[in-house]
Amino acid sequence: MNTIENTIDNAIQHYRALLEAQLARTERMQNAAPAKDFKALPVVTVGVIDGDGIGPIITGQSMRVLQALLKDEIAAGSLILKPIEGLTIENRLAKGEAIPSDILAEIKTCDVLLKGPTETPKGGTMESANVAMRRELDLYANVRPVSVPEKNIDWIFFRENTEGEYALGSKGIEVPGMLTMDFKVTTVPGTKRIARAAFEYAKNNGKHYVAVVTKANIMKKTDGMFSALCREVAAEYPGIEVEDWYIDIMTAKLVDENIRSKFQVFLLPNLYGDIITDEAAQIQGGVGTAGSANIGDQYAMFEAIHGSAPRMIETGRGAFANPASILRAAAMLLRHIARTEPAARLDAALDAAGDKPREMTAEAYADKLIEIL
Ligand code: IPM
Ligand code: MG
Repeated sequence: MNTIENTIDNAIQHYRALLEAQLARTERMQNAAPAKDFKALPVVTVGVIDGDGIGPIITGQSMRVLQALLKDEIAAGSLILKPIEGLTIENRLAKGEAIPSDILAEIKTCDVLLKGPTETPKGGTMESANVAMRRELDLYANVRPVSVPEKNIDWIFFRENTEGEYALGSKGIEVPGMLTMDFKVTTVPGTKRIARAAFEYAKNNGKHYVAVVTKANIMKKTDGMFSALCREVAAEYPGIEVEDWYIDIMTAKLVDENIRSKFQVFLLPNLYGDIITDEAAQIQGGVGTAGSANIGDQYAMFEAIHGSAPRMIETGRGAFANPASILRAAAMLLRHIARTEPAARLDAALDAAGDKPREMTAEAYADKLIEIL
């Protein structure tokens, strides 16, 4: 057999294995255990993962703020703050695992997680820790609120977080010197569950408009089905208007002041959600201002959108890192476990403290927050 024939044969074998694995995943989703009722847990364990670069600094200071905010519950034993160390790029590279198995096991003993930024190596074969965590804990809904009250912007993005281009992003095919192919996966249960999360949110929060954002004119199978299934789920929510938008024009409309205020809830596949939430965060004041929730039926993980800021560490400015966005994420976490009162208190303290001045350390800023609490 010549080499091309060989390559095609290998690719077919590879594709068969991918398809089988994705079908197995689809079946697991269809037979999933009922969602954990976070609100009903007698004890909630909150894992705090430090991460890379400025991660240990901002999570360390967030830990102090949370310990002050939640001191009664911690003393009563109904809430545990559990530090999880070692999800570092050095450790991940040394062990050759996106999330080393001992750390993953520790993570799985928690109910919810607050996570510092982790570095994603470019190229190579090491998978992003974020993508691995979303998959391992099946965190299928990436929820990102963006609000600019003075511009009448109050948006919330429901980004599918486990499928699309991300599911097999490290598992493409290459015919050296000729072509490369990646795969995009959209499943029926995977789409229905994110659609349901978005419509439930809309219903429970008085929202009456959901924009389903795809490129279904081009990605006919995957996005076509995503859009059709969102419509199917929408039929169960009378009174909520649904419109289909294409991602390209939506990126333009987000900066169109004549129309953008009408948007409320966005429902979209993984990659489009990744891109457009950075645009939306920038409209709010920058990616460093936004929090992000990664929600599944058994676990949920909350983080800042910003990265690990290696340059701050290199230039010796790590101590001045800003813990505000991860603390906003912590407020989202508290709401998720029905601690609405401390969540509101934390948000109010962050509002009252105002932006951290450049020359104030993370520690001094945390001191200020603790004083306000
Ligand atoms: C995000 C990030 C991640 C993503 C990276 C770090 C893998 O950009 O959370 O939006 O692409 O999803
Ligand atoms: Mg992103």
